[in-house]
Amino acid sequence: MTDQIRRQLPIVGVAKVSHGRDRMTCLYRCGNACDHPVPNVSDNDYFGDMVKSEVTRRGVMRAGAAGAVALGLGGAGVLSASPAFATEPAPAVPPVGDFTTMTEQTTNLTFKAVAPNRVDALVVPNGYDHSVVIRWGDTVVPGAPKFNVHGQTLDAQLKQFGYNNDFVAVLPLDKNATRALLVCNHEYTNEDLMFPNFVSQDALSLEQVKIAMAAHGMSVVEIERVGKTGEYVLVKSGSRPYNRRVTALTTHFKMTGPAAGSDLLKTAADPTGTDVIGTLNNCAGGVTPWGTILSGEENFNQYFVGAETSTGDAKARFNRYGIDTVNHYPSGSRKWDRADERFDLTKNPNEANRFGWIVEFDPFTPGSTPRKHTAMGRVKHEGANIIKSRDAKAVAYMGDDERFDYLYKFVSDKKVDGRNTPEARKHNLTVLESGTLYVAKLGFTSATEIDGTGKLPTDGAFNGTGTWIPLVKGGKSMVEGMTVEEVLVFTRLAGDKVGATKMDRPEDVEPNPVNRKIYVALTNNTNRGVGTNPAADEANPRNANKHGHILEITEDNDDHTGTTFTWQIPIVCGDPTDPATYFMGYDKTKVSPISCPDNVAFDGAGNLWISTDGNALQSNDGLFAVPLEGPEKGHLKQFLSVPFGAETCGPWITDDNKSVFVAVQHPGEISGASVASPASNWPDGDFAKPGIAVTWSVWNKNIGA
Ligand code: FEO
Ligand code: CA
Ligand code: CA
Repeated sequence: MTDQIRRQLPIVGVAKVSHGRDRMTCLYRCGNACDHPVPNVSDNDYFGDMVKSEVTRRGVMRAGAAGAVALGLGGAGVLSASPAFATEPAPAVPPVGDFTTMTEQTTNLTFKAVAPNRVDALVVPNGYDHSVVIRWGDTVVPGAPKFNVHGQTLDAQLKQFGYNNDFVAVLPLDKNATRALLVCNHEYTNEDLMFPNFVSQDALSLEQVKIAMAAHGMSVVEIERVGKTGEYVLVKSGSRPYNRRVTALTTHFKMTGPAAGSDLLKTAADPTGTDVIGTLNNCAGGVTPWGTILSGEENFNQYFVGAETSTGDAKARFNRYGIDTVNHYPSGSRKWDRADERFDLTKNPNEANRFGWIVEFDPFTPGSTPRKHTAMGRVKHEGANIIKSRDAKAVAYMGDDERFDYLYKFVSDKKVDGRNTPEARKHNLTVLESGTLYVAKLGFTSATEIDGTGKLPTDGAFNGTGTWIPLVKGGKSMVEGMTVEEVLVFTRLAGDKVGATKMDRPEDVEPNPVNRKIYVALTNNTNRGVGTNPAADEANPRNANKHGHILEITEDNDDHTGTTFTWQIPIVCGDPTDPATYFMGYDKTKVSPISCPDNVAFDGAGNLWISTDGNALQSNDGLFAVPLEGPEKGHLKQFLSVPFGAETCGPWITDDNKSVFVAVQHPGEISGASVASPASNWPDGDFAKPGIAVTWSVWNKNIGA
């Protein structure tokens, strides 16, 4: 049966674009972002300052620096709750005190690497097993109808697991994590692969459009451990009070922070500018020390139409966020305006300003209202990950996933209350509502030696210094000519003005809880050094960068609230036989090929785990692990590969180091594929369904051992 289906495969591989993704993924995931102009055309001081090793704060209002007084709640953020929030439940206290401290353990990565392959299966190393925990259509809300691909309804999808799972977190419900909450994002839908007999977006029924909206968002489900192993399964009976769907269609979100209630966020349907329906294109994310989920709203631009009538500042702002100002229906448009006119910017010009935020969601409090934090800025957020500073501030690191866009960090004004009490939890839920927002500017040690080939400079490292440039601080704008509200809603334009460093698509940015350094996945940038685009620099050292690299940031004096840091590049990805690759100086004949790093994670030993998206080496995406210290430092190995056409999302390593969860996103997403003629049969042997799998050692060893 499986072989039969596989033999029907449609035109596999012919529609690849240069960075390794299939055309179909480009269309549905990012609205063909690579075909559109690079949104960052700013001539910030990039060109002039290539050779400077120290950073000046040109364009920053020095006078504002005096206003470093901590704010309480940001101005308009204290607006009274609208009816949607009137019945807000009291926050529940999770059973774990601090969710971002790993149990430190020594794990030598002795597993035998998985070979690069094109197999339509999830492949794990010898000594490991895996199972599928949940897939598209499975029951989330008890009572959901059994999934029937030929009989999909809106009511069913609102209760079933959504499409294209991305971020994954596993939060224990008891001390030994015998039960846990699995929380995930559903980034986007692929209507070609969801609806049998799909013809075009125009031909979809309005109910099908709404099913796609309902398949976006997030899911929370209870899972339970199998015996004492690292395997988990879905809880399928009982009341399951935490199980919940959050969608683009029905869930209310509350805006918080300095820009909440701003005129820039008001619409006809929401004159308060605080009550937004839905979340879009939720990509990666993080878990706060107090056990809530942070989720990044990424390529929200592609859901809006009608910006072609805009002029002046409005047009410039749309362009800077990649919202098409030429065509009414940009290529890849989902035409959601057919079902809801708030996606038509000619009628609701501010609606797009209500997306592109970091969302905070409390999965432990059934019925809680998720919030969008304006204090953390508006970009194409990949995600946000927090480390507690030595003085207990929450410091969130964030990437804006676009070619030539920037790295950000947010430092809360308030301290995190480490107690495990209802009062502490209530306080912690306000911590991300006010703080200082920074953008990164990098300086170089070998600027004149960078020729765009990836050749290592004579000092033996791609490295340098850096400065966090404040954009909003003490409740004041630090950016000349922009108000606080403008900086937070049009954060990319603020970054342009202060001369932030243009990076090669900053995706996941995560603090390593063991060494407290920050790791940035820079996926790729095939436009680097091409045409009039900026050329390679020491932090983005390859022109036409197909394979991406990893950046490591060390905050000066281990002060994550500070404004200066050093950085280096530990890994330059690609085929290790390519001289333009680098693996911390390790013997390259022993490392696995890796391309397009996307998400990062850490185990209890502080080893770096990297998942990939869009393997430009033409093998399936995977999950890789590499030690950052000791004699094996730089020995990167592939731990698993995902099925054909998929990318590897998550990953999530449990606190006991016994399980790793990965989200298999868009399996079989190959141009020409459909439900009837799938390019992947994962996970059930019929048509492709995105899903989440868990992997564990059959000998009950730590993951990677
Ligand atoms: Fe949704 Fe930046 O990947
Ligand atoms: Ca150098
Ligand atoms: Ca991603």
